[in-house]
Amino acid sequence: MTRHFLKDHDITPAEQAELLRFAAAMKNDRHGFDSLNHQGRLRSVAVVFEKPSTRTRLSFQIGIAELGGHPVVLDSQSSQLGRGESIADTAQVLSRYVDAIVIRTFGDDRIAELAQHATVPVVNALTDGWHPCQLLADLQTVAEHRRESLHTLRGTKLAFVGDAAFNMGNSTVIACSMAGMHVRVGAPAGYQPADDVLERAAEINAETGGSVTVTDDAVKAVTGADVVSTDAWLSMGMKDHEQRVADLTPYQLNAALLGHAAEDAIVLHCLPAHRGEEITDAVMDGPQSRVFDQAENRLHAQKALLAWLIGGDRR
Ligand code: CP
Repeated sequence: MTRHFLKDHDITPAEQAELLRFAAAMKNDRHGFDSLNHQGRLRSVAVVFEKPSTRTRLSFQIGIAELGGHPVVLDSQSSQLGRGESIADTAQVLSRYVDAIVIRTFGDDRIAELAQHATVPVVNALTDGWHPCQLLADLQTVAEHRRESLHTLRGTKLAFVGDAAFNMGNSTVIACSMAGMHVRVGAPAGYQPADDVLERAAEINAETGGSVTVTDDAVKAVTGADVVSTDAWLSMGMKDHEQRVADLTPYQLNAALLGHAAEDAIVLHCLPAHRGEEITDAVMDGPQSRVFDQAENRLHAQKALLAWLIGGDRR
């Protein structure tokens, strides 16, 4: 059966741990793997963008090349997708050419339809609902920080403040639960994760020992946290900027809020950041920030994912 990675829980907690170990190995030996050059045949991967991207575009394109594969980057403006060719037809055509399809798109119904009609693995490079590749990189970054003291992500306390009702909030809640972490969401009403996401997290946490709590008190969420994470308040396609800024300003990740976290806490932001909105310059550029390690880890984590998913490389 073709495996897809459309949301964080399309893999098991054990597979997530395996991928994170593999990603660390990829980082330690950046040019030591050619897992997509199988018996002299380059594997080709289509990387499709229906929304803008810097990190995802670069990390997939460069990562596929570093694995010995051939990246084919498409966007909707310069392909027939932008002129209304159906996602089902596109899935069938791409499947005749490439060994996997990575796509950034809008609704999760769109990527689900692509996966339904594709005969090769489909990877979510961000949808409205999920950003699972980002979370692999985030967990790799947390593991790098925790390794000295814990050797595991299990039990690590992560606070996510701001808009938690969208892709980054959803993926953070689920992926961290899979890792056995304790997630505290600090977000106002209307910006908290949906009930079905929290219900799925509870099922996962029954297995992994993690937990999720939700509060509208940012200080309560951050107090004692080992990791503090946030995301932009206005995601791609959203329009109500002024209202969102008014609602979310009490959840800004600034020095005062970070002061409630553990002394050696690290700061994550998937980027791009809107400095002065969800995060201040002092925190972004401060000693606790790991945001650029996090951006780099997109490369290593996605290389591990693709080598595992289509190269059949297990470590
Ligand atoms: N974090 C992230 O997905 O960055 P891009 O939008 O630049 O790809």
